[in-house]
Amino acid sequence: MRLLLIVAAAGTAVATYPVKPFTVENVIAFGDSYTDSGRLSAYMANNGATPPPATDTSTSNFTASGGYSWGHFATQQLGAKFYDYAVSGAFCSNTIFERFLSQINRTFPSVLEDEIPSFVEDVVYVNASTGTNTFYPDRAAANTVYALWVGTNDLGGDAFLTDSQHAGLTITDFVDCIWAVFDAIYAQGGGRHFVLFNQAPLERSPLYAAPEHGGAGDNHYWPTKTDHCNNTEVEQKMLEYTTNVNTMFDYGVPFQLLANKTRRWPDASFAVFNVHQLMRDIYDKPEQYLDVPANAMGWYYHCSVDGSNCTNSENPLSSFMWYDELHPSEKTDEIIGKEFARVVGGNSSYATYW
Ligand SMILES: *[C@@H]1O[C@H](CO)[C@@H](O)[C@H](O)[C@H]1NC(C)=O
Ligand SMILES: *[C@@H]1O[C@H](CO)[C@@H](O)[C@H](O)[C@H]1NC(C)=O
Ligand SMILES: *[C@@H]1O[C@H](CO)[C@@H](O)[C@H](O)[C@H]1NC(C)=O
Ligand SMILES: *[C@@H]1O[C@H](CO)[C@@H](O)[C@H](O)[C@H]1NC(C)=O
Ligand SMILES: *[C@@H]1O[C@H](CO)[C@@H](O)[C@H](O)[C@H]1NC(C)=O
Ligand SMILES: *[C@@H]1O[C@H](CO)[C@@H](O)[C@H](O)[C@H]1NC(C)=O
Ligand SMILES: *[C@@H]1O[C@H](CO)[C@@H](O)[C@H](O)[C@H]1NC(C)=O
Repeated sequence: MRLLLIVAAAGTAVATYPVKPFTVENVIAFGDSYTDSGRLSAYMANNGATPPPATDTSTSNFTASGGYSWGHFATQQLGAKFYDYAVSGAFCSNTIFERFLSQINRTFPSVLEDEIPSFVEDVVYVNASTGTNTFYPDRAAANTVYALWVGTNDLGGDAFLTDSQHAGLTITDFVDCIWAVFDAIYAQGGGRHFVLFNQAPLERSPLYAAPEHGGAGDNHYWPTKTDHCNNTEVEQKMLEYTTNVNTMFDYGVPFQLLANKTRRWPDASFAVFNVHQLMRDIYDKPEQYLDVPANAMGWYYHCSVDGSNCTNSENPLSSFMWYDELHPSEKTDEIIGKEFARVVGGNSSYATYW
């Protein structure tokens, strides 16, 4: 009997997305440098502290992409307001690994322990002069989409790739952190429309690609890359990590939403955004996506290994897939942002809807 009920529930829930037609008024994002729109570089670096409640950190045009990040392009396309809690360098949870951030004299803020609490503070914020929440004037379950893209740091160097996690923890703990983030947005933030970005093809980023695939040698992000270990193994291990996490997301979302007996997020809708495939498509056919001379293996911003001497390419940033060894360029972010708008419109071939 139970099995029949589960099948019936799944059959009705997968048919369409969104469950009811809705206009996206707000996009609220969490994550790392792939999403950060100035929270670290524009706010924390200048103020030496995490932002107080009701601080807009979504407007920088000089992010890790060399320009705007994807959220800017997505919300322009959607005509929605953008709220961005992502912090460059963030892990999903500092209980798995932690890193010191000298600019704020503490650990890097993480999604679960810092970004989510900041969001919850903004949800309950009351402006003393108006008596209302002027930061979120019209946030409602029906008009707001929550996006999470995290894992680039968690799966990378000084983290799972180099076995730097706290003893006994595994990638499963990282995936459990992802579900815990949605638990908090659902319970404390009232969120009902979720977009989960899967892992980028980090194995093709210059930082983690093998030398025969254009990978960087020793560099400012990883000064000992070439004497650390076999770089073909690094690339292959990263391919394993990203694709395995993506499989866990593909099975995990419908399981947690529909088959978990405790019904983790009743009445919520999910889109799993296969940004991994979108970025592979850019990588495989760069001339279809990038300006001339299209370049998917190289990168725009080159630094010496000690990071002291950095120069931009003479070719335009819009011709590069990667801004630096690790980060997608502004052009790539524009492509991702516009696809995100299609994802929440229920019309993207890169999304799986639940
Ligand atoms: C950001 O915007 C400012 C002001 O419009 C402009 O001067 C600057 O060139 C922009 N930076 C980038 C990286 O686009
Ligand atoms: C950094 O924090 C530690 C305690 O966590 C404190 O002892 C130290 O004085 C702080 N340093 C600065 C520069 O604020
Ligand atoms: C509080 O409300 C006042 C009056 O509308 C406004 O000027 C101010 O920017 C608001 N403060 C914040 C932090 O949103
Ligand atoms: C490097 O790793 C690859 C893949 O694991 C393996 O095929 C190759 O033999 C290794 N090379 C060396 C020099 O160990
Ligand atoms: C099912 O959801 C609950 C929370 O609602 C969670 O604690 C539990 O771990 C989930 N089960 C699995 C197998 O993930
Ligand atoms: C900085 O790097 C550029 C490009 O590699 C090089 O031409 C230049 O000489 C370097 N400058 C210094 C001061 O090392
Ligand atoms: C969805 O995309 C398809 C193919 O590009 C297009 O034909 C269709 O009109 C789109 N639907 C909506 C609602 O945008």
